[in-house]
Amino acid sequence: MNKPKIELHKIEKIKNGITILKDINLKFSSGKRHILIGPSGAGKTTLLRLLNRMDEPTFGEILYDGKNFKDIPVLDLRRRIGMVFQIPIIFDGSVKDNLTVPYRLRVIPSPIKQDELIKILELSGLQSDFLERKASELSVGEKQRLTVARALINKPDVLLLDEPTSALDHAAGIKLLESIKELNEVLGLTIIMVTHQLEYASLLGGRIIHLVNGTIVREQESEDFFLNSEII
Ligand SMILES: Nc1ncnc2c1ncn2[C@@H]1O[C@H](COP(=O)(O)OP(=O)(O)O)[C@@H](O)[C@H]1O
Ligand SMILES: [Mg+2]
Repeated sequence: MNKPKIELHKIEKIKNGITILKDINLKFSSGKRHILIGPSGAGKTTLLRLLNRMDEPTFGEILYDGKNFKDIPVLDLRRRIGMVFQIPIIFDGSVKDNLTVPYRLRVIPSPIKQDELIKILELSGLQSDFLERKASELSVGEKQRLTVARALINKPDVLLLDEPTSALDHAAGIKLLESIKELNEVLGLTIIMVTHQLEYASLLGGRIIHLVNGTIVREQESEDFFLNSEII
């Protein structure tokens, strides 16, 4: 087994007096694909948000490369761990403007060269001529690819994706999953994706983590998992 990239030890999350996650012990291996599945309300988004400190656990600790999350400056951590949301968030302007938005917000010129931007776009499944296109005019599938590309700008080690296909039609969803798989295979990115669609989980493949009512009920490689999928 690869080295753990992120480890969760006895994680518990309580919100407004309600226990949302309990006794979560997990290891996400470096360079591997992981899929969090489970019914709506199981705690998948809550768990994912803990993984780049958009939220904090109530109890337990999280380690990144063996180091406690709390000892890593939040901005450094978020550069190492990128996130893609359910609904693509797009800013005004061109695709290029959207890719360089972290620099524009800090009012500094982007140090990323044009050919690097094109490489990132292509890895995300968009051709180079998209760079000058108006972002608001892209299809939802293309917008989601753009948010994947934007998450790659900081050259993260880990990509978190929360139901990235749920706003997309079936064909666009499958294309996006193929790109995510390629990002893992080509760049060695550690992937942690949430989905409640088993077809997408099976297409991406990897380690399946099945969450129900805030606890892990099953954890298995996808080939084994889908041999016994009637249990879901
Ligand atoms: N701020 C909050 N306060 C109280 N309960 C919450 C809050 N956010 C989410 N929950 C509850 O936590 C549970 C898990 O939510 P969530 O992580 O969004 O599940 P999933 O992503 O698996 O659908 C749900 O029952 C939800 O209603
Ligand atoms: Mg969710």
